[in-house]
Amino acid sequence: MASARVYLETYGCQMNELDSELVAGRLRELGYSFTSESGEADVVLYNTCSVRERAEQKVWSRLGEINKRKATEPGLVVGVLGCMAERDGEAMLGRAPVVDVLCGPGELDKLPELIDNALRTRASLTAGERGARRSAGQVALQGDASRRSSTLAAAGDSLEMLDLSRAISPIDAGQRSAYVRITRGCNKFCTYCVVPRTRGAEIHRPPEHIIDECKHLADAGVIEVTLLGQTVNHYRFEHGAAVSIDGVTQPQKGRTYKGSHHRDALTGERVTTFADLLRRIHEEVPAIQRLRFVTSYPRDFGDDVLEVIRDSPRICRYLHVPAQSGSNRVLKKMNRGYTVEEYYEFLDRARAILDQPEIGRPLMISGDVIVGFPTETEDDFEATKDMLRRSRSKNQFIFKYSPRPGTLAYEKIPDDVPEAVKRRRNNELLALQTEISDAIAREQVGREYDVLVEGLSRAEKKKRGVDVKPGTGMIGLTVGGASPGVAVIDDVDAATSVQLSARTDGDLIVHFDAPTGGARPADDLVGRIVRVRVDETNRMSLRGSLV
Ligand code: 5AD
Ligand code: SF4
Repeated sequence: MASARVYLETYGCQMNELDSELVAGRLRELGYSFTSESGEADVVLYNTCSVRERAEQKVWSRLGEINKRKATEPGLVVGVLGCMAERDGEAMLGRAPVVDVLCGPGELDKLPELIDNALRTRASLTAGERGARRSAGQVALQGDASRRSSTLAAAGDSLEMLDLSRAISPIDAGQRSAYVRITRGCNKFCTYCVVPRTRGAEIHRPPEHIIDECKHLADAGVIEVTLLGQTVNHYRFEHGAAVSIDGVTQPQKGRTYKGSHHRDALTGERVTTFADLLRRIHEEVPAIQRLRFVTSYPRDFGDDVLEVIRDSPRICRYLHVPAQSGSNRVLKKMNRGYTVEEYYEFLDRARAILDQPEIGRPLMISGDVIVGFPTETEDDFEATKDMLRRSRSKNQFIFKYSPRPGTLAYEKIPDDVPEAVKRRRNNELLALQTEISDAIAREQVGREYDVLVEGLSRAEKKKRGVDVKPGTGMIGLTVGGASPGVAVIDDVDAATSVQLSARTDGDLIVHFDAPTGGARPADDLVGRIVRVRVDETNRMSLRGSLV
C-alpha cells in the first residue's frame, strides 16, 4: 500500500505547516511518494483550519471538486486532517461522504495506519457502508479526551513520537529554515477561538527533545529555527513531573511542586522556563544563527525572557504579540485577561530592554486584531485604532470576527455587528496600519542589516513564471507538502540581474539585486546570511544592496 502517491494541501497556521511537514516525512519513510498535482494522486489529503469560516469554506469547495473525481475513480482516498476534522467530527462524513479518513491534529501519529486501512478497504467500500469507517479504523479524533487528566499523558506521549520522528528522518536538502514545536494545545479559552477545542490542552515538550531536534536540524544545514506554541511564553517544563494540565502541574504521587524557581525548594526538582529554554538552545546549538518564536501572549511575559533575548545575539528582535482589540470592554468579553494599559506596559518594557536601532537591532512588533467582535461599538473601534497607533507595529494581521460553533462567543453572544460594518472597520484598520508600516519602512533607509536570503523575490518569480504562493495573510496556502524551507533557484543565468528576497532578524523583507557573474551568483547567496544596506522603500517593501 505504501507505494501510493500522496497530494497534501495545507491551510492555516505555522503549527499546521509543521504538522504537514512531519506527516509528509513519516509517510515518505514508509514508502509513499508525493506529487504536487492533485490529479495524479492516489491519496488526497487536506490539512485544514477552523479558525475562521472562510478557511473552512475553501476546504468544503475542494471536497466538492474531488467528489466529481471520485465518481470515476472510486479507489481514490480522501483525507481531512487538522482542526476542521476535529471540530466537525464525524458530522463531516455525513455532509461529505467523499471523505474516507478523518484525523484530528492531536491524532496525527495514527495517520499512516488510517491511510493504510483506507487503501486496503477502498475498493470494497460502498456508499452504504460508510458508517463502517470508524470500525475500519479510518477515523481518529481526540474529542474532549485530551482535557481528561487520565489520558493527557498518553496523548502527549504518542504525539511526541511524531515530533521525535524528525530526529531520524531526513529533512529536505537545502532547507535552511524550520519550525520546532515547544508546546501543543492551548489553555486560554479566548471566547472567539476554536483552538483549545481542536488542539486540546496545553502540553509542553521536554527541553531535551526540543534541543535534540534543533541540533539535528542544524546538522542537516538549518540555520533558522522558529519555535512554535499558541502562547510560547507560557512554556514551562517541570522535570520529573507528570504533564501539566490547564496550567497546573499534576504531581506524581508523593511529590509536591510549587513556586517558579529553577529548583523547587521542597523536592529539588528542576523547572525549565521559557527563558531557560531560549538560553539553552542559544548556548547549546550555536549553529542556529537565528532563533525566533511565535506566538507570544501579552500577559505573563517576564523580564527574564526579554533579558535573555537582549543578551543572545542569535535570538531575533521580533515579537508577534496579538492585542486583538484596544477596548477594555471588548478584551474582557474576549476573555483575554489583560487591559490595553497592560498591553502598552508590556510593549514599553519590551522596547526599553530590546529596541536598539543604534546597534542595528531595532525591536519589531507584529500583532493580530479582530474587528466586529459582538457588541463592538464605534468607541471600541476607535480604541483599537488608538492601540494600533500606540503600538507602532511593523504589521498587523487584521481579521473580521467569524463566529465559530463550539466557542463561548458563538454560544452566548449574538454576532450583532453587520458584515458591512465589519468590512468598513477592517478597511479602515488596514489603511491605518499601512501608514504606520510605511513610516517604519522609511526609518530603515540608510540602516544596514544582516539578512537571510530566502530566494527569488515575488516580482522575479512572476517574471520567470515560477509559481507564487498566494499571499493570503495568516492563512497561507502551501501545496504539495509544506516545508518552510528556502527556495532553491535552479535556472538562474549568471549574466542577468536577479532580484532576491531576504529577511532581517526583525522579520522585515528586503529585496536586493544579486551581483551578476563574478564570485557570488544568486544561487550561492540563497540560504545564507549576508549584509545589506537599505537604500529606499517602495511603500512597505524595502530595497537594498549588498555591502
Ligand atoms: N474570528 C476572527 N478571527 C479570529 N482569530 C481567531 N479566532 C477568530 C475568529 N473566530 C484570529 C485571532 C488570532 C488569529 C490566529 O486569528 O486574531 O490571533
Ligand atoms: Fe492553526 Fe488555529 Fe487554524 Fe487550527 S484553527 S489550523 S490552530 S490557526
